[in-house]
Amino acid sequence: MIKGKVVVVGVTGGIAAYKSAELVRALVKRGAEVYCVMTASACQFITPLTLRTLSGNPVYTKMFDEPRVWDVEHVGLADKADLIVVAPATANILAKAACGIADDFLSTTILATNSPVLFAPAMNVNMLNNRVTQDNIKRLEGFGHHVMATGHGDLACGYQGEGRLADIEEIMFAIEELLAGDKPLQGYKVLITAGPTQEPLDPVRYLTNHSSGKMGYSLARCAQLMGAEVTLVCGPIDLNVPKGIKRVDVQTAEEMYQAVLTVFTECDVVIKAAAVADYRPKQKNENKIKKQNSDIYLELARNKDILAELGKIKEDRVLVGFAAETEDVVANASEKIKRKNLDFIVANDLLQEGAGFKHDTNTVSLVFPNATVKRLPQMSKDAVAVEIWQNIIKIIKMRGSVG
Ligand code: PMT
Repeated sequence: MIKGKVVVVGVTGGIAAYKSAELVRALVKRGAEVYCVMTASACQFITPLTLRTLSGNPVYTKMFDEPRVWDVEHVGLADKADLIVVAPATANILAKAACGIADDFLSTTILATNSPVLFAPAMNVNMLNNRVTQDNIKRLEGFGHHVMATGHGDLACGYQGEGRLADIEEIMFAIEELLAGDKPLQGYKVLITAGPTQEPLDPVRYLTNHSSGKMGYSLARCAQLMGAEVTLVCGPIDLNVPKGIKRVDVQTAEEMYQAVLTVFTECDVVIKAAAVADYRPKQKNENKIKKQNSDIYLELARNKDILAELGKIKEDRVLVGFAAETEDVVANASEKIKRKNLDFIVANDLLQEGAGFKHDTNTVSLVFPNATVKRLPQMSKDAVAVEIWQNIIKIIKMRGSVG
């Protein structure tokens, strides 16, 4: 959603200005084209060189510098921006933007843009709570701008309270939401599974796999941005699930099966990106298994195939599976479509560079029941998620409605 978008980062003069470097880095990492505009006060806190190096683009600090290319630069940037984010936003820039004052590059760019403007304020708690600032925030929101809540805690001025810059992750979420545009999944309930399962052997050991949950997370976040109500049933993963997504944590395949069944009836679309263990230790050991002088043998019991069970009761829901394969990728995936009654399956070739478990990228083929195969190049898991949802939306449209 952020890839290829032009984001203008405005930085104003507060101690939190150093955090704008982290924001610029996160935006660039997600594929945005970033241009920074710094006020004179911001340049007292961090240097333009830092932001120029991180963004890979010139940094704008003065209204009347010789232009790098001929256009009226603040208007050019205001037009080019898909979004302007001001982080940190001081009480001063909020006041100027609320009153239409345009006396430097940043305030002029804000006044000249038709794109969304997001302010992430950071200031002393008394300045924030001052009625003038609160009125300015209301005025800005009244003009259609977006103002984030501040965090609570220790402030650089020695005070405690509201006024800290929101977490960079929260600012990134807000940016993604503003850039998402259409909400084609508005009104739909979706269920996504993610991560591995852990099948305990004894109180200290378990059988598991390398799934990080990243693929499922990208699918969940993408669905949320497209307007869906999302439930994410996940095995043990180390990811912060965005606000607004209902997260249900499970450990074993049996727990995942129970959790999925509880939500399934209310859902319109289900994507099973979790790497579920096919087997669990047959015997449950209450105590730690002691080291033996000889080899020991584990007896394993089959777990339920959750996806196959859902296939039996799917009715007109859209049901999408994943296949993690190391050989005959498309043939094996096709067999699973039929056996599990799927609308399509996403086949990962685990032997490809940068595909499958743990990576931020994936290389997949979408395999359909009529044997059509859509091979995708290596792309970020976020971009794979967009492709998957676009194909699901096509199915929803063809059917008229689902669920
Ligand atoms: O989590 P990441 O690190 O980002 O990695 C992503 C991923 C590789 C885990 C993911 O993209 C993926 O391929 N997930 C499915 C892995 C898998 O279990 O494949 P499978 O071929 O064994 O299973 C086929 C399908 O049946 C899957 O949708 C799986 O969720 C489902 N299944 C499998 C076994 C089982 N007992 N119950 C199931 O529901």
